[in-house]
Amino acid sequence: MRQVMVAGNWKMNGSSESVKELIAGIKDGMASVTKAEVVVCPPAVYIPRVSGMADGSAIKVGSQNVCDEDKGAFTGEISADMLKDVGCEYAIVGHSERRALYGESDELVAKRFAAARRNGIKPIFCIGETLEEREAGVTNDVCARQIDAVIDLEGVAALADGVIAYEPVWAIGTGKVATPEQAQDVHAFIRGKIAALDAGVAEGLRILYGGSMNPGNAKELIGQADIDGGLIGGASLKAEDFLAICQVAE
Ligand code: 13P
Repeated sequence: MRQVMVAGNWKMNGSSESVKELIAGIKDGMASVTKAEVVVCPPAVYIPRVSGMADGSAIKVGSQNVCDEDKGAFTGEISADMLKDVGCEYAIVGHSERRALYGESDELVAKRFAAARRNGIKPIFCIGETLEEREAGVTNDVCARQIDAVIDLEGVAALADGVIAYEPVWAIGTGKVATPEQAQDVHAFIRGKIAALDAGVAEGLRILYGGSMNPGNAKELIGQADIDGGLIGGASLKAEDFLAICQVAE
């Protein structure tokens, strides 16, 4: 049985005050979350504060990105070691916003995945197609290409050290959700593709869905055979909504 994971990607939102309130609210509700693994990914500057406040609770902390290099002259970047130092257990890599807006290639994302892994940070590895790609019928090809970049660099067994988040770009922040069937189809494809290389890795690997998941649709999505949780954007900014999604696993 794969443990359900619910991760909140706060993106570039919040202030010292609001972040404190949000993490306190989530912490307060954690008594009713006994099954799901819960992760929050605040903006980097707030990670130390959130880690401190989450300490002693079951809430885990992740970053929204990680440098592909370990140290040195890489202005603006944050290393996996630094993230570990401030309490991160996870790091999102390859989010579609990083790929689309900041030009991160499949190869760079794979290197970021590798850097996280060699420093003991678990990657939350994001993949997914644009609307154009879906309409062109190449959804599976795009996901396969993005996964292959990591497999080529690190080998298939490396995937066992993290989780995959399937986030169709057209469903992110749009309120437009993949139907449970659409999402399940892609998740099953992803698991099948990995199973062809290593059945054990595929069986144990958690594949999260991301893209307008909310308390109203989480149950049906996470109820699908190959959907093992969610990576939540907008709905992770309200403690009540985020907790409601976490409770789907109860
Ligand atoms: P939304 O839940 O706001 O659509 O964002 C999803 C996402 O990008 C999580 O990484």
